[in-house]
This record gives sequence, structure tokens and C-alpha cells, in this order.
Amino acid sequence: MKIQGKSAIITGGGRGLGKAVALILASEGVNIGITGRNEENLKMTVDEIQKLGVNAHYAVFSMDNEIQVKAGLDSLAQQLGGVDILINNAGIGDFGSIEEMPTETWEQVIKTNLFGVYYAAKTVYPYMKEKGQGDIINVASTAGLKGGPNMSAYAASKAAVISLSQSMMAEWRKQNIRVITLTPSTIASDMSIQGGLTDGNPEKVLQPEDFAEWVRDILKMNRRAMIANGSIFSTNP
Ligand SMILES: NC(=O)c1ccc[n+]([C@@H]2O[C@H](COP(=O)([O-])OP(=O)(O)OC[C@H]3O[C@@H](n4cnc5c(N)ncnc54)[C@H](OP(=O)(O)O)[C@@H]3O)[C@@H](O)[C@H]2O)c1
Repeated sequence: MKIQGKSAIITGGGRGLGKAVALILASEGVNIGITGRNEENLKMTVDEIQKLGVNAHYAVFSMDNEIQVKAGLDSLAQQLGGVDILINNAGIGDFGSIEEMPTETWEQVIKTNLFGVYYAAKTVYPYMKEKGQGDIINVASTAGLKGGPNMSAYAASKAAVISLSQSMMAEWRKQNIRVITLTPSTIASDMSIQGGLTDGNPEKVLQPEDFAEWVRDILKMNRRAMIANGSIFSTNP
């Protein structure tokens, strides 16, 4: 299916996986709105996207604040003339033991990764309902499928995203909205390299571009088909 001329909002689109998705969708002719807290990154990314010949806009806000999320996404939706695609990608990965991680950090991970996804999807849903169709991709993680040491907040947030996303899918597919839950394994990015999860070796380890190609291909499937859940791994890291 062609996705040219559609409008996509990618949360956390100024760097990492979100930026790679924004660029690949723009190269398919999709108009783009990106969000994040770092305005400099967002401006630079918007410039890159506009060079691909599509409209691009950004909004600066933090995913943990419902009022800011709603205002930011509503303003992007106005500028883009609606929302066809939401990539719920923004997230933080704070790692540490249950004993040592401060409660405020634990709460912040849950607020950003879980509540952020909820606030963003709730904001764009009316635009998609009005159009009679839409696509929401919620980026969880393999960490949400199975917890492990030093990742209690992150794993719990992503497990909850998986569950929330499955409920969204069940409620919204009747409006022709495809809600897709992705559980990637480690991909080279600031989060995974600074978190000590990988050295990011491009010969071996998944790169943001691999993730972006996957997302593009999922979105291009005929609308009668929906990938409900999916994982991606490095072949031999
Ligand atoms: N990389 C991996 O190995 C991996 C594996 C599985 C799942 N994931 C998931 O993939 C998504 C993207 O991760 P990444 O690897 O690209 O991480 P990253 O390089 O650290 O980028 C995180 C993105 O999220 C945004 N963000 C973080 N906290 C935010 C907040 N409070 N408000 C608004 N935006 C916020 C950041 O924007 P600003 O800096 O501008 O705020 C940035 O664009 C995350 O949900 C992550 O959990 C990653």
C-alpha cells in the first residue's frame, strides 16, 4: 500500500529509533510531526526531513505531563491536517537494582513509558476515529515480555505498555484503527549504548535503520492485514 501523503506523529523523533522512523516515512512521502524535550535535536531533524520534500513540524514537551502531551499533539495535528499514524516511541531506560534505585526514578520511568503512551494514544484517537481509520504503533520491548535484574522499572513499564496496547487494539480495531505492539530486542542507540547493553557494532547489532524499515513495511501492508505483535532481534550479536 502507498503511504504517500499521510501524516505521522513520532514521539521521541529527534534521535534514536524515532528519528530513523521519521526519516524513512518522510522518504515515502509522509508528512511528519516529531516530539521530544530537546528542541535543538528536533529542529535539526525537521530540517533533515524537509529536505526530503515533505512537511515537517515539531512540538516540545515531556511525555509525563498529560496537559502538555495533549496540547503538543493537538497543535501538530492542526499543522498536519489530521493524524493517520502515531508512533508511540518516546521512552527512557533507567537501570538499577530495586534496592538502590530512588523511588522518584522508578516512578518517572513508569510515568514516561506507560502514561506517555496512554496520553498520546488518547489524544490522537479522535482524529483517527473521525477519518475512519488510522495506525498506532506502540514501541514496547522484549524487556516487557520477561523481567530481569536491574530493570524492574523499565520491564514493568514495558509489560504494562504491551497490555495497554492489546486493550487498545481490541477496542479500536472496530474503527479500522490498527494498533500494533512491537517488542524489539537491543538496537544501537543512546539508550542501549549508554545503558551498557551493547557496543552498537554495526556489523553485528541491530541499527535504528533496521527498526525503521520494519515499521515502514508494517505500515505498508494492505489495510485488511494487521501485525498485532512483533519482535526483532540481531541475528548473531
Ligand atoms: N534501543 C533499544 O535497544 C530498544 C530496545 C527495545 C525498545 N526500545 C524502545 O524504543 C524507544 C526509543 O528508544 P531509543 O533506543 O531510540 O532511545 P533514545 O536514543 O534514548 O531516545 C529516546 C527518545 O525518547 C524521547 N524521550 C525520552 N524521555 C522523554 C520525555 N520524558 N518526554 C518526551 N520525550 C522523551 C527522547 O527525546 P528528548 O531527548 O528530546 O526528550 C528521545 O527522542 C523507547 O521507547 C525504548 O524503550 C529501545
